[in-house]
Amino acid sequence: MNVRVDPAQPIGLFDSGVGGLTVLRALRRRLPAESMIYLGDTARVPYGTKSPQSVLRYATQATDHLVARGIKLLVVACNTASALSIEPLRDRFDPLPVIGVVEPGAAAAVAASRRQRHLVLATESTVTHHAYARAIRALAPDAHVDEVACSLLVSLAEEGWSDGPIADAVAREYLDPVRARGSDEMPDSVVLGCTHFPLVAEPIRRAIGAGPAIVDSATTTAEEVATVLGRMGLLRQSEQPGATTLLATDGAERFAKVGARFLGHPLSASDVEVVDL
Ligand code: DGL
Repeated sequence: MNVRVDPAQPIGLFDSGVGGLTVLRALRRRLPAESMIYLGDTARVPYGTKSPQSVLRYATQATDHLVARGIKLLVVACNTASALSIEPLRDRFDPLPVIGVVEPGAAAAVAASRRQRHLVLATESTVTHHAYARAIRALAPDAHVDEVACSLLVSLAEEGWSDGPIADAVAREYLDPVRARGSDEMPDSVVLGCTHFPLVAEPIRRAIGAGPAIVDSATTTAEEVATVLGRMGLLRQSEQPGATTLLATDGAERFAKVGARFLGHPLSASDVEVVDL
C-alpha cells in the first residue's frame, strides 16, 4: 500500500456508526488544531454481531477510503474493529500509524480501579475475543475481568434512544445479574468497551449503581494520538482550529440528528457526505 504521511493531512477515524463520535469529540478537545475526517459505516452497523471476516473486510474498506482521501494517522474508533482487525490494518497500511481504542481503554480502567475488579461491557465480538481481558491483564496480571455482551445498547444509541425508560430497562436487563451477585463481587470499574456506550452512560450508571467508576477510552485514546503524532513530528502547528469532515455510508439525516447531540453543536444532513465503500 502506498501511504504518504504528512503533518498537513487530517487524522482519519472510523466506526460502524455514530459511536466513534465520542472519540472524535475527545480528539477535537485535545488537538484543536488538527483536521479530522470521520467515517461512520452506518449502512452496515452493527459490526459487533458480524463475523471476524466481515468486520476485517469492512475495516479495510473504510481505511482504504480514508487513505485515498489522505490521512496522516488512523484511529480505529470502534472496539470491535480494534479487537478483530488492528494488526492486519497495521500490516496492510504500513507506515500509516494506526491506533485502536482497546489498549487505551484498558489503561484507563486499570488506572481507575483500586481492587482491579473490572466489568467490561462490549459487543458480542469484542467479548468473544476477550480483547479487554487480555489488554487489562497485560497491565494488571491479577485483575479480575468479567465481560458482558450488550449488543442492544448499540441499536439504542444509533436510534437516538439513549435515555428514557427503554434504555433503562435494557441496561437493567444486562446489569441486574451483576448486581445480584452481591457487594463482594461488585466491580469497581465498569469499562464502556464499545464506543457507542458513552451515549448510554446514564442508563448504565442507574443500572449498576453509584459505586463503580465508569471508564471509557475516548480521552486516553486522544492522549495516545497526541503522543504518537508528537513523536513522529506530525502535529499540525496552527493557531486556527482544524476542519472536521463527516462521512457516512447511509442515512445522513439520522447521522446528523444523533451526531449533533454527541458533538455538542447543531448538524444538518448537508454537513454529512454520504459515501459508498
Ligand atoms: N462502536 C463499536 C464498538 O466500539 C461497534 C458497535 C457495533 O457496531 O456493533 O465496538
